[in-house]
Amino acid sequence: MMMTSEDERYAGRVRILHWLIAGLVLATWPLGFVIGFVKDDVKLDFYLVHESLGFLVLWLMLVRIGARLTSATPLVEGPPLEKAAAHLVHGLLYVFLIVMPVSGFLATNAHGFPLEWFGLFTVWSPIGKTPDIAFVLSAIHGWSAWILLALFALHFAAVVFHHVIRRDGTLYRIL
Ligand code: HEM
Ligand code: HEM
Repeated sequence: MMMTSEDERYAGRVRILHWLIAGLVLATWPLGFVIGFVKDDVKLDFYLVHESLGFLVLWLMLVRIGARLTSATPLVEGPPLEKAAAHLVHGLLYVFLIVMPVSGFLATNAHGFPLEWFGLFTVWSPIGKTPDIAFVLSAIHGWSAWILLALFALHFAAVVFHHVIRRDGTLYRIL
């Protein structure tokens, strides 16, 4: 159920989850990107940290979706086209923040490397080593990473536009 309110900001738990997930994604993304360039003796550590942080994003996103659906949402203001663009980019960010960890997790399992979450325990997976689909899942993960980056660039540009050029209160809705 979607609710709206006159309140100008997102609910506290939605704001906390936005920044928690933003921080995790801004760390996980570059870590994933550099895996291909680091020396072999530290490669496994980069995999471990990238995968463990990325996996956390999946669970926090599920909590976030729950928090978002059960809290009042501040009304979006502005021309209809701008509102539609904001909804589209936000919606796609949600989709790719689920696609990224799911494809990465399934890809590693399909390649035959179960996730040892920060070296603490092995995460159960619905699929085991499946070389046939491993490369498809890796390709989805790789392409989605660039789509997510493009969406973030649009998102960030929109926030800067609102804050610096329009000088409206958009940024404060999430602070
Ligand atoms: C929000 C979550 C995640 C983000 C933003 C993310 C981002 C990335 C990025 C940017 C790359 C490099 C892609 C490229 O060079 O084309 C990558 C690679 C990779 N990611 Fe993720 N990832 C996430 C979650 C995960 C998870 C949960 C796992 C596994 C449990 C995982 C496993 C991998 C693997 C195995 C690679 C390939 C490294 C290689 O051999 O080149 N990722 N990821
Ligand atoms: C680092 C700088 C960032 C800033 C300054 C920022 C700022 C904002 C602001 C002001 C909003 C509210 C927009 C509105 O109400 O119209 C918002 C919402 C949102 N942000 Fe960010 N953000 C940042 C990073 C990120 C990152 C890294 C992601 C994900 C990859 C992200 C995903 C989202 C999503 C999905 C929403 C929609 C929230 C909802 O409707 O539930 N943000 N952000």
